[in-house]
Amino acid sequence: MVFARNLTKHTQTHPFLKWAGGKRQLIPQMDKFFPKKYNKYIEPFIGGGAVFFYLLPENSIISDNNPDLINCYKVVKEDVEGLIESLKKHRYEKDYYYEIRSLDRDQNQYAELSDVEKASRSIYLNKSGYNGLYRVNSKGLFNVPFGRHKNPKICDEENLRKVSIVLKNVKIVLGSFEICLDFAEKDDFVYLDPPYYPLSDTALFTSYTKNSFDKSSQIKLHEVFKELDNRGCKIVLSNSYSEFILDLYKDFKIVTLKAKRNINSNSQKRGLINEVLILN
Ligand SMILES: C[S@@+](CC[C@H](N)C(=O)[O-])C[C@H]1O[C@@H](n2cnc3c(N)ncnc32)[C@H](O)[C@@H]1O
Repeated sequence: MVFARNLTKHTQTHPFLKWAGGKRQLIPQMDKFFPKKYNKYIEPFIGGGAVFFYLLPENSIISDNNPDLINCYKVVKEDVEGLIESLKKHRYEKDYYYEIRSLDRDQNQYAELSDVEKASRSIYLNKSGYNGLYRVNSKGLFNVPFGRHKNPKICDEENLRKVSIVLKNVKIVLGSFEICLDFAEKDDFVYLDPPYYPLSDTALFTSYTKNSFDKSSQIKLHEVFKELDNRGCKIVLSNSYSEFILDLYKDFKIVTLKAKRNINSNSQKRGLINEVLILN
């Protein structure tokens, strides 16, 4: 049984991507519900990895079904110096941004980019695009407009090098969340942070990739949750405070958290809304 690694100045890192639904602001409320002892750490909806970078678990497996995102993690792990060199070439300029953004419009041209060039493009677009969002349209093309930043840090060398060290022993997997069942065993800690079940049709952003996470995906995830529970895993799941989710997980422990979110996608209004943590 291992404990979460102690944070030291040397290893302290933060997510290298800004991600919609990132959990950074909620960690102070979530911390007391995380198990103190566990074997492996498994996070199948890694996104920006706020919880992973907070815990810095010794022995972990992270996955996501977004190929560009998983490529970024692999490149940071395997060739951080190549990535830094490539990131330094980017410029924060509108025309240049749209030129780099358009590289995925021609899939043959995109396929010719190296993994380092693809990761460098994704990180550049994430740092320079509007609100640091990752969003693709129905054809899978990145469609976030140019941002309104003053002087974005496109290449945070120090953090990227630390992240690369942290990732050295981490298994990084591309795949849908069910893949966690290939690895999960008794006493593993599984943190599940899926796209949230929407509170209304327009209120919440659920389309991170081409295939949005619909009701049937939430039901499939609930089946996976129950299977992990049967195996003796320690599970924490985040989701929206909605009747559907409260009912789906009514046999488990449900805790309410308060999150600052954009309540209405049409306005810039932010307010406190309830979210849930589900624990077994
Ligand atoms: C709420 S975000 C996770 C945010 C992350 N916890 C953070 O702090 O940044 C949900 C993630 O689930 C991923 N995703 C969506 N559908 C998925 C699926 N079927 N299997 C695995 N990952 C999926 C998205 O690509 C996105 O990264």
